[in-house]
Amino acid sequence: MRPRLVAGNWKMNGTRAEILPLVRSLKDGLNPAPRAEVAVCPPFIYLPLVGELLEGTPIALGAQDVCEEAAGAYTGEVSGPMLRDYHCRYVIVGHSERRQVYREDDGRVARKFSQALSGGLIPILCLGETLAEREAGNTRPVVERQLRAVLEQSGVAGLRAAVIAYEPVWAIGTGRNATPAQAQEVHAFIRDRIAERDPETAASLPILYGGSVKGANAAALFAMPDIDGGLIGGASLSAAEFLAICRAA
Ligand code: 13P
Repeated sequence: MRPRLVAGNWKMNGTRAEILPLVRSLKDGLNPAPRAEVAVCPPFIYLPLVGELLEGTPIALGAQDVCEEAAGAYTGEVSGPMLRDYHCRYVIVGHSERRQVYREDDGRVARKFSQALSGGLIPILCLGETLAEREAGNTRPVVERQLRAVLEQSGVAGLRAAVIAYEPVWAIGTGRNATPAQAQEVHAFIRDRIAERDPETAASLPILYGGSVKGANAAALFAMPDIDGGLIGGASLSAAEFLAICRAA
């Protein structure tokens, strides 16, 4: 069986005053530890604080982004080794908000993925099409192109210590999740593309779904054969919602 993972992407949300009670509720709610692995990805500046609060708990720490270089003159950036220093296990790369707002192209995302691996982090690689791309019938080619850039940079071996998150852009923050069948179709497609290169890696790779997951729709999504958990945005800021999703996984 593939490992299950629920990761909360807090994005640019939360103040110190909000984070303290949120983490306290998650610690209480996830004791005893659930069967699925659980991670939270706070903004960079809160990683040391949240890391300290999570010490000795089963909840893992993740970052939301990483620089494609290991060190040097890159003002404003944070490197893989720095994230390891603060006990991050995961790092999200290629989130659609980074691709769209900060113009990260496939090549940069692939270099970030590779840096995450060399920094000893588990990259959570986000793939997904926009509404216009879906409506034009281009979901598969878009997702395949995004995946291919990473395969060309890191090889299929790079996916052995990685996680993929399928996040259709039209489902992010819109309240309109992909149906379980729509998500399953793309998850299976991604797994098949990887299986062409290495069936074992494809079979063991966790593929998460992200986009308007909440307590009420999580169980139906996670019941699909190729959906191994979720990458959760808005609902990860509410302890009750996030815990319900973790239980569903
Ligand atoms: P929402 O759960 O708010 O739709 O966001 C999903 C997401 O982008 C997680 O990375």
